[in-house]
Amino acid sequence: MKKIAVFTSGGDSPGMNACVRAVVRTAIFKGLEVYGIYRGYEGMIENDIKRMYTYSVSNIVQRGGTILKSARSTEFRTPEGRKKAYENLKAHGIEGLVAIGGDGTFTGAKIFHEEFGIPVVGCPGTIDNDIYGTDYTIGFDTAVNTALDAIDKIRDTAAAHDRIFFIEVMGRDAGFIAVESGIGSGAEFVMVPETATDLDAVVKSLKNLRKTKTSSIIVVAEGDDEGSAEVIMNKVKEKIKDKKKEFKVTTLGHIQRGGNPTARDRVLASRCGMAAVEGLLEGKFACMAGIMNQEVVYTPFGDCIGKEKPLIQDHLKLIEYLSI
Ligand code: F6P
Repeated sequence: MKKIAVFTSGGDSPGMNACVRAVVRTAIFKGLEVYGIYRGYEGMIENDIKRMYTYSVSNIVQRGGTILKSARSTEFRTPEGRKKAYENLKAHGIEGLVAIGGDGTFTGAKIFHEEFGIPVVGCPGTIDNDIYGTDYTIGFDTAVNTALDAIDKIRDTAAAHDRIFFIEVMGRDAGFIAVESGIGSGAEFVMVPETATDLDAVVKSLKNLRKTKTSSIIVVAEGDDEGSAEVIMNKVKEKIKDKKKEFKVTTLGHIQRGGNPTARDRVLASRCGMAAVEGLLEGKFACMAGIMNQEVVYTPFGDCIGKEKPLIQDHLKLIEYLSI
């Protein structure tokens, strides 16, 4: 293998740049030519592909976002779109790909590999941490710390006014951000898509809590089965029936996707990037390079997207025990 390309796709995450840097520099270290594909699969179809050099990735390890930009491509979902993408790669002589992204990215990469046989190794880039085959995904640690910082600030004002705050964090299908930012911020409750939310139990505990605490923080993952934080707040407000109690809602939104990556994310991103290039050179073809128990592990795309990654049970217990 002489020429490879790297791209970022789907929702961006802090640390993607550190990963791109690791891919580019490892590839050059190993004597390969390396190309950057802009805007993910979209750029592959539109031939937005440029040669990268060591200096192309200077001064980016600390930056959020992605210098290669990111997109969600509808055209790549069609056989015609994928054919165009393959023709462009062939014209550049690109023989292997590193795909940095989440489940949508790996679903596309798996089909692309099955259709055209091009080797693809993935790196787990998503703040949601919902990818099987790696203990943590690139960007998760930064997103949790961003959420935590915001929740700490809300806690100050919640305590000052004796208010109940519902704070919505990202996590369309998974509650990892909610759980870790909930533990870290000492939240009274965390609501996640993985477990059914019993609103009556929440109301009962909130009433009991009010004997010992005057304010409360409830962290809600955006994908919770009871609805958005605002919907849940209104349901709880209705059930508590206490006109004097004040309820507020804050949606943290996309601030969780930005910012300088933490040290953890930079190291994880660099390791995964290096492992992805090494994997390609060792003949790996449709799998993701992740880190489990400190070791590099290559997991087939089918498992990364198909197997469930459960929340850590101790984490749920912690919230229950520590919020009394
Ligand atoms: O990156 C994953 C994620 O943050 C989800 O938690 C969220 O639902 C989604 O992306 C929002 O993405 P976008 O703003 O790109 O539609």
